[in-house]
Amino acid sequence: MRISILTIFPDFFSSCLNEGIIRRAVAGNLVAIEAVNIRDFATDRHSMTDDRPFGGGEGMVMKPEPLAAAIRAAREKNPAAPVILMSPQGQGLDHGKALELSREPGLILVCGRYEGVDQRIIDRYIDMELSIGDYVLSGGEPAALVVVDAVVRLIPGALGCGESASSDTFSRNLLKHPQYTRPREFEGEAVPDVLLSGDHEAIGTWRFVAAVRRTLERRPDLLAGARFSREERRILAAEGLLAAVDAAVAEHGRGRDD
Ligand code: ADE
Repeated sequence: MRISILTIFPDFFSSCLNEGIIRRAVAGNLVAIEAVNIRDFATDRHSMTDDRPFGGGEGMVMKPEPLAAAIRAAREKNPAAPVILMSPQGQGLDHGKALELSREPGLILVCGRYEGVDQRIIDRYIDMELSIGDYVLSGGEPAALVVVDAVVRLIPGALGCGESASSDTFSRNLLKHPQYTRPREFEGEAVPDVLLSGDHEAIGTWRFVAAVRRTLERRPDLLAGARFSREERRILAAEGLLAAVDAAVAEHGRGRDD
């Protein structure tokens, strides 16, 4: 996968993309990531990328010409990639969307700035607007970074063998179970005995129940999209959780069938 990030702050990305899983995925040729400076495509004397809005009002709007030229250049290198504008007006990023994007041959992420982007760019060049949440950032750069991180870790092979995306929160609409490491006792609080037992089936059951309990407490809406096997339902019934799970599903509506 090739990810082109179009930005007026390319340095914003240099250290973040050079750490951890992203760095490893780049080194392993699973993904190539470039930050392209939109200013390099400005044609006027002052390399302007923004201008005042027609009709008046506060703030500045990103000019169409440099952005269009930057997108055209990115498309040449990354022809099958959807062009995605980071914007609080866009559809929300979630696990399903990240999974979808991880299967694309490439991504062109456009970081907006100021009060917005000239609408004609959106009409003519943008395939999708994507938001990372219902709040306004001062620019699309942190949002693009979130998309890159969420997507790259889902590319097959990006995670090491000790890591797994399939046990991540959201991969099955359950929050993750609590985790513990050494020491066995910390400030008087001991690690649950079952985790020290070496009994992998019992540990799996404990983790499943803890994940469901946590999801019920914090995000019962997610349970509408969760699916449980007959054995899991039996476990939930034995733990006294089945009625609460069924009530949460009834309240939040059943999600897609999978
Ligand atoms: N740009 C500004 N705010 C944003 C948001 N919430 N998501 C994506 N891009 C943005």
